[in-house]
Amino acid sequence: MSLERTLTVRVERISRQTPEILAFELAHPWGRPLPGYEAGAHIDVHMPGGFSRQYSLARAPSGSGGYVIGVKREHASRGGSASMHERVREGDLIAISAPRNTFPLRAEARRHLLLAGGIGMTPLLAMAQALAARGADFTLCVFARSEEHLAFAEALHAPALAPHLKLHLDQGDATQRIDLRALLAERAPDTHLYVCGPGGFMQAVREAAAHWPEDALHTEYFAAPTGTAAATTGLPFTLKLARRGIEVPVAADQTAVDALHEVGIDIPVSCQQGLCGTCVVEGDGEGAEHRDFCLTGTERRTKVALCCSRAKGLDLVLQL
Ligand code: FES
Repeated sequence: MSLERTLTVRVERISRQTPEILAFELAHPWGRPLPGYEAGAHIDVHMPGGFSRQYSLARAPSGSGGYVIGVKREHASRGGSASMHERVREGDLIAISAPRNTFPLRAEARRHLLLAGGIGMTPLLAMAQALAARGADFTLCVFARSEEHLAFAEALHAPALAPHLKLHLDQGDATQRIDLRALLAERAPDTHLYVCGPGGFMQAVREAAAHWPEDALHTEYFAAPTGTAAATTGLPFTLKLARRGIEVPVAADQTAVDALHEVGIDIPVSCQQGLCGTCVVEGDGEGAEHRDFCLTGTERRTKVALCCSRAKGLDLVLQL
């Protein structure tokens, strides 16, 4: 259970983007501005039926305050997307978290290459809008099945983005398809790559960009990739809490977060799959066996996602 503050928002508008994707515009119930955010941020949506899911904000921060999310109805889902599609209506009040950003644009990048697969476009659309607004050097590559399956088409074709957009449609003009290996074969200096999409797409990009420096590749996963080690498989270890000066044992079948909760130390959690960054704390990242999908190589030296990562050895020092 997350301890983060929840906000109540009104569903202002629901618009169909594709046969499977709806866009939800969320606003403060009394018209006040919602908390600010940076492009790439996501929110937790607490939906009817007790489900809670993370959705990226699909519009660059504008100052006018509203949030936009895109929700794809997943037929193999555990019920979250179906709940949004079937039970949420315009005018409803729903609870969300404040925005969090584990997928920010990198200030050190001179050029940005954004690769979006399907509904993975949502954070990258916001990032592209933010980059266009500041006149940055970027390309947004969007992969979709067909025009009919292209969400947020109007925003993508807006004059500010159109010159930066490359569209790959599986069922479209073969001459315009993007060859990932060719696209990523060479990396111009100071180019950063941002990727979001379904598992197979992420894997294909990772393979094509295997020679890119790890710190230049930024990913946002919807779900832990298949074949990932479960958070509760491993050996027992001890958490050493440097600020409190205490030690907390973690059993082999327990996560670090659960062990801390047991002794009354509450660490906020959300996805519990290493995706969202809610449970990340400062610590001896070099001593951790990282099992998250949200920290960069550099961040992993000093941070640990406690919902999934474990100690490499017998103990792990945290700044708690
Ligand atoms: S709770 Fe989402 S990364 Fe740990």
